[in-house]
Amino acid sequence: MSDPSLFPNDFLWGAATSAYQIEGSPLADGAGPSIWHEFAHTPGRTHDGDTGDVACDHYRRYREDVALMGELGLNAYRFSVAWSRVLPEGQGQVNPSGLDFYQRLVDALLERGIQPMATLYHWDLPAALDRRGGWLNPDSAAWFADYAQVLFRALDDRVKLWVTLNEPWVVVDGGYLHGVLAPGQRNVFAAPYASHNLLRAHAAAVRTYRAEGRHQIGLVVNLEPKYPATETSADFAAAQRADAYWNRQYLDPVFLGAYPLELAEIFGAAWPKFPDADLEMIRQPLDFLGINYYSRQVVQHDPGDWPLQASRVRQSQQTHTGLDWEVYPQGLTEILEWVAQRYGPLPLYVTENGAAFYDPPQADGAVDDPLRQRYLRDHLRAVLEARRKGVDLRGYFAWSLLDNFEWAYGYSQRFGLAHVDYATQQRTIKASGQFYAEVIRSQGATLNFPSL
Ligand code: BGC
Repeated sequence: MSDPSLFPNDFLWGAATSAYQIEGSPLADGAGPSIWHEFAHTPGRTHDGDTGDVACDHYRRYREDVALMGELGLNAYRFSVAWSRVLPEGQGQVNPSGLDFYQRLVDALLERGIQPMATLYHWDLPAALDRRGGWLNPDSAAWFADYAQVLFRALDDRVKLWVTLNEPWVVVDGGYLHGVLAPGQRNVFAAPYASHNLLRAHAAAVRTYRAEGRHQIGLVVNLEPKYPATETSADFAAAQRADAYWNRQYLDPVFLGAYPLELAEIFGAAWPKFPDADLEMIRQPLDFLGINYYSRQVVQHDPGDWPLQASRVRQSQQTHTGLDWEVYPQGLTEILEWVAQRYGPLPLYVTENGAAFYDPPQADGAVDDPLRQRYLRDHLRAVLEARRKGVDLRGYFAWSLLDNFEWAYGYSQRFGLAHVDYATQQRTIKASGQFYAEVIRSQGATLNFPSL
C-alpha cells in the first residue's frame, strides 16, 4: 500500500492554460479568426476593451514557457488547440503552420519529460463556423469530429491524454443564454440546442478516437456543490435545480443516457424533446473525466433570477477571490466523491483549480501571494483527502501556469503561478508557484506540515 499522506510516483502534477488566453498572434501564419477574437474586438464586450491579440505571447515564447514548467517541476501540462489555427475556416483545408505550432509545443514538452494533455475545444470556435450557426447548427458535431481527426492523426503518437470539450456549461450559459461570453447570444430557446450539439460533438469525437486513437480520451466539466441556504422546501428545490443545471446537465447524458428532469422545469417551453437515438449516441464510454473546481454555492429560491430562479447567498464570513468566488476547499473533496459515486468508477483528474487575487510585484520584482498559496495548499489537501477516501484521482492541474486573458474580465484578474508583466512579457514565479514546486518535489509531504 502506498502512503496515504503522499501522492504516488505516477501522479500527474500539472498546470493548465487555454489557447486564446495565452497565445497571442491569433491571426498569425494563416490562422482564421475565432469567435473570441471577434467578441473581444467588439466594443463593450471585455474589461477595458482587452483582447487576446498579444496575451502572454506564448505563440512565440512557448519554449521559455516550457522551461518555466521545468522549473516548477511539472510532469504534465494541459493546453488547448486553437481550432482556427489548424482549420482557418473551421472545415476543409488544413493550415500546416497552425498544426506545426502544436507539433513543436508537444515536442518541447516531451523533451522535458512533461506529459501533454490536449484539449480540443476551449471556447474559441472558428468565426467561419459561427456564421453558419455555430453550436446551433446540427452539423457542428460532424465539424468537430473532422477537426478532432486532424489532431488525432497528427499528434496521437505523442499525446496520450485528449480532452474533447472544456466546460460545455460555460460555453452555453455564458455564450448562448446570458450573452456575456462569445458568441454573445442571449436566447433561452437556443441554449438547450447548443448544449445538446456540444454533447453530440463530444460523442462524435470520442467515436472517431475509438476508430483512430490509441490512448485516452475524456471530457472536462466545471462542477460546484450547491447547498440550500435554509431548510425550506423552496430553497431545497432551488439547490436541486442549480445542481441539475450546473453539475448534472452534461454528466447525466454522458454517463446515464438521460437529461436531468429539472431541466424541463427550468427551461419550460424552451426545453425540447431530444431524439432517443441522440442520447444513446452521447453515452460513449470515456477513459477519464476531468473536473474543474473553483468554488461552491449556497443558493436560495429567487423568482427574480432567470431562468433558474435560484441565486447565490454570499457567505460574507468566508474568504472570496478577486472574482468574488467563495474559497471552499472541502467542496472539492465532496464533489470528487460525488462524481465517483454517481458516475464511477472511472479515473478522475482535477483539470483546473485556482484563484484570482490582487498581488502586485514588490520593488525587487518578487510576487508574494499568500492567499493563493493558502488556496493551493487547502485544495491540495482536499485532493489528498479524496484519494484517502478511495477516489481514483490521478492528477492535479493548477489554473493557471501564467496570468492571462481572463475572458470578459480581460487582464484585470490574475490566476497564474507565474506573474506576467504584460509590458515586458517577463514571467516571475510567484510564492504560490514556489510552494507548488515544493509540494511536487516532496510528493505532498509538505502539505502535512500544519504551520504552512
Ligand atoms: C475556464 C478558464 C478560466 C477559469 C477562471 C474556467 O472556467 O476553463 O478558461 O480562465 O475558469 O475563470
